Amino acid sequence: MLRGILLVGLSVAALLAQGPKYDLGRNASDGDVAAAGIAVLPDGQGLPEGSGTAEDGARIFENTCRECHGPEGKGGDQTALVGKLTDLDGEKPKKTVGSYWPHATTLWDYTNRAMPFDRPGSLTVDQVYAVTAYVLHLNGLWDEETVLNAKTLPAVEMPNREGFFSEETAEKSR
Ligand code: HEC
Repeated sequence: MLRGILLVGLSVAALLAQGPKYDLGRNASDGDVAAAGIAVLPDGQGLPEGSGTAEDGARIFENTCRECHGPEGKGGDQTALVGKLTDLDGEKPKKTVGSYWPHATTLWDYTNRAMPFDRPGSLTVDQVYAVTAYVLHLNGLWDEETVLNAKTLPAVEMPNREGFFSEETAEKSR
């Protein structure tokens, strides 16, 4: 009996596998794949063309980020985005963009794919550059007027850039 059910199940599956035609979806085009392929590497590979300044970013932050991250990114209902390297000292290290993140490019990537939390993907490329510039500015890592783009962003030196190492390096230095 069980065998019979299994066989029927298998042949239904086989029919479905052949079956044309439920008219559900379509194959992803090269364009679709390119649009979804938004990975940005630490060295900036994958950053799109576009630009923004912290001055522009301040307005965007006020309207789209402040409700959760507090005034000037000092922390509200959600985590603070501003800090300095010494915030990692002590019993309860405070991980922020300024204290913890090793690469500025990750800030662009993360904001682009995940923020604002309740509306990810709603910012334009230029808006993401601008708000990234502003968060870097709040951390003392970018000035107000210099244009942030795919060339200038990877050159930002994050305070904790030496704070991460691979197991291999750790092994060697032992
Ligand atoms: C509705 C609330 C909300 C809004 C609006 C919002 N965020 Fe967030 N944000 C979060 C939450 C929640 C997290 C933690 C997410 C997690 O850990 O998965 C987070 C995390 C982050 C982090 C990572 C912090 C860290 O060090 O781990 C950054 C950077 C960030 N947000 C930037 C922004 C920016 C820039 C904006 C505006 C464009 C924004 N967020 C708007 C809720 C929000």
